Amino acid sequence: ARLVAGVKISNRKLSLVLLDFEGTQLATWETSIERDALPCAGMAEAITRAVAALARTAGRSIRDISGVGVGIAGIVQAAEGVVYWSPSLTERNVDFGAILSRRLERQVFIDNDANLVAVAEKTFGLGQNHSDFIVVTIESGVGMGLVIGGELYRGTRGCGAEFGHTKVHLDGALCRCGQRGCLEAYVADYALLREAMTVPGDDPTAPPAARIEALLSAARTGDATARSIVGRAGRMFALGLANLVNIFDPELIILAGEQMRFDHLYADEVIAAMRNSIVQIDKAPPEVVIHKWGDLMWARGAAAYALDNVSELALAGL
Ligand code: BGC
Ligand code: NA
Ligand code: ZN
Repeated sequence: ARLVAGVKISNRKLSLVLLDFEGTQLATWETSIERDALPCAGMAEAITRAVAALARTAGRSIRDISGVGVGIAGIVQAAEGVVYWSPSLTERNVDFGAILSRRLERQVFIDNDANLVAVAEKTFGLGQNHSDFIVVTIESGVGMGLVIGGELYRGTRGCGAEFGHTKVHLDGALCRCGQRGCLEAYVADYALLREAMTVPGDDPTAPPAARIEALLSAARTGDATARSIVGRAGRMFALGLANLVNIFDPELIILAGEQMRFDHLYADEVIAAMRNSIVQIDKAPPEVVIHKWGDLMWARGAAAYALDNVSELALAGL
């Protein structure tokens, strides 16, 4: 009976893992969702079906699961399970944790998706031997998880560590959060797509993922327009990373995400530009590593988070 599930809600997709209390992975499950954003009730329904399917693949039932961890993009007050804003939900300011918990009839632990990547890195990834590190995720948005003194730092309203919405431009490009000049509005997939139509051969009617691939491949093979779009995103990103280093001075920065393309595109340039923009002292700058995560690894972070909470409750005899 002692199992936990982890769920990562991403763009039109749910990814799930099932772990036992020792952290051993017993099953995985992936399923698509029909729209970018769903109402809470619809999302809770989709997650419940997916958790049931996950349990079935391991020959178990939803009743065997003690807790469900959920990673969702956006502003989440983890302790209360409140989602103030998420690109995956149509409503704002919702008690999504409680809604989901009622529907699943299980304990639910919900947090910002990138925070849970940091939990995963801390629990079984590159952060295991570090007490002060930052995870930055880049895919449909730009996310961040901040570990200070071995603990995840969320801010008092739960809306800290939103690296994607730090401002890099006065009166700049429109972001999906509704504000202007956010880093994400220059670096995320939708930002690149906004400019992709100027690249020869771009087909605005093609699916976004295909257009991104075409843009990146044009940049790689030397198309000047594509290179300048991607290069500008890289420079903006380097600026953001330098700001992070100047504020936090972490031991380590982990760049993560399923669509982490910086390795073959411009990682070296980005990291070099970041190093040039930080406060120069007579000490080596923080290490920057690239860690490609599939959505299932984000889900493992969510499961690890549930495991932490479930065992705390078990220890407290609840
Ligand atoms: C959201 C973050 C999220 C990131 C990655 C951003 O747009 O604001 O909360 O972590 O996307 O999904
Ligand atoms: Na975060
Ligand atoms: Zn924003």
